[in-house]
Amino acid sequence: MKKMLTGLQPTGIITLGNYIGSIKQMVENQGKYESYIFVADMHAITVNDDKRNLKENTRSLVALYLACGIDPKLNTIFVQSQNEYHANLGYFLECNSYFGELSRMHQFKEKSKKSESFTVGLLTYPVLMAADILLYDADIVPVGIDQKQHVELARDIAIRFNKRYGDTFVVPNPEIKSEGTKIADLLDPTIKMSKSNENQNGVIRLLDEPEVIRKKIMRATTDSEMLVKYDPENKPGISNLLNIYISITGKTMEEAEKEFDGCNYGTFKTKVADVVVEKISEIQKKYYEYLNSDELDKILADGREKSREIAKKKYELVKEKIGFYN
Ligand code: TYM
Repeated sequence: MKKMLTGLQPTGIITLGNYIGSIKQMVENQGKYESYIFVADMHAITVNDDKRNLKENTRSLVALYLACGIDPKLNTIFVQSQNEYHANLGYFLECNSYFGELSRMHQFKEKSKKSESFTVGLLTYPVLMAADILLYDADIVPVGIDQKQHVELARDIAIRFNKRYGDTFVVPNPEIKSEGTKIADLLDPTIKMSKSNENQNGVIRLLDEPEVIRKKIMRATTDSEMLVKYDPENKPGISNLLNIYISITGKTMEEAEKEFDGCNYGTFKTKVADVVVEKISEIQKKYYEYLNSDELDKILADGREKSREIAKKKYELVKEKIGFYN
């Protein structure tokens, strides 16, 4: 059985973009692969943030995973920082990565511009991500398009290491669903929907009140054409809403376009809001049940054991391949 691994950072604000680009794919892939789903909490400390609340946000993210339908019987769910092999392997991989390639990563270029100084962790972040993936022999890594370059780097590092030391790592593939590759901000559909966008009225959070979600969708930027048609270049707002609609309903773009043929934008937005609110309300109901349960802590304790056992084997193999004294 092929293996799949993916994870999210526990930022405290999980967006509809995260859900469509990542969590939903995890749920759809259940049972198809041996699956590892984790909380990328060590990635969350690469930028300084005093209000980080790692503990609470980690539990919150796991409760969301479960509420979205990730079944702990079909997936190993764990927390990155509870498994020391991620950082340990990360160091070995750093010694097989180059400053040039890391400094060319889009995310690094973007984030390092934001302040005068940035941490070395921000630069080496994709190498830690490669370690996350390579420890578990993951063939498939479902992500949104913004993480594609990082998965490609993990591929390059795996190929390079295998060449240098002999077969050690499975070479991973990013899996990107075309409709969910990038959910855009509702107010500025030329940028990605992200928890760090300045105006949060364009960002749907999975824990927003249903009425807030409805308002955000009703105020989404459109155009003056009055035509519900998928055309990302000329109609980015409408195309984004269509994208959201088909991702949630499972309809095809043609079906959606047909459904809204001749429809005015108000009616179209109401329909989009209906399906989003229904889905998110369902998730929220389960979220609060999981958040307050001991089951969650038990799932993470099991995940810690299982993930450490697997990661340790790969880590020991890597040490042997490099030739350390044993
Ligand atoms: P993170 O936490 O920024 O985002 C989690 C996932 O959500 C996707 N995503 C989106 N997809 C569509 N539209 C959007 N607007 C949108 N915003 C976010 C991201 O592409 C991602 O798949 N570095 C990763 C976490 C990570 C990881 C890993 C992932 C660490 N190690 C190993 C896979 C494998 C990150 O920061 O994702």
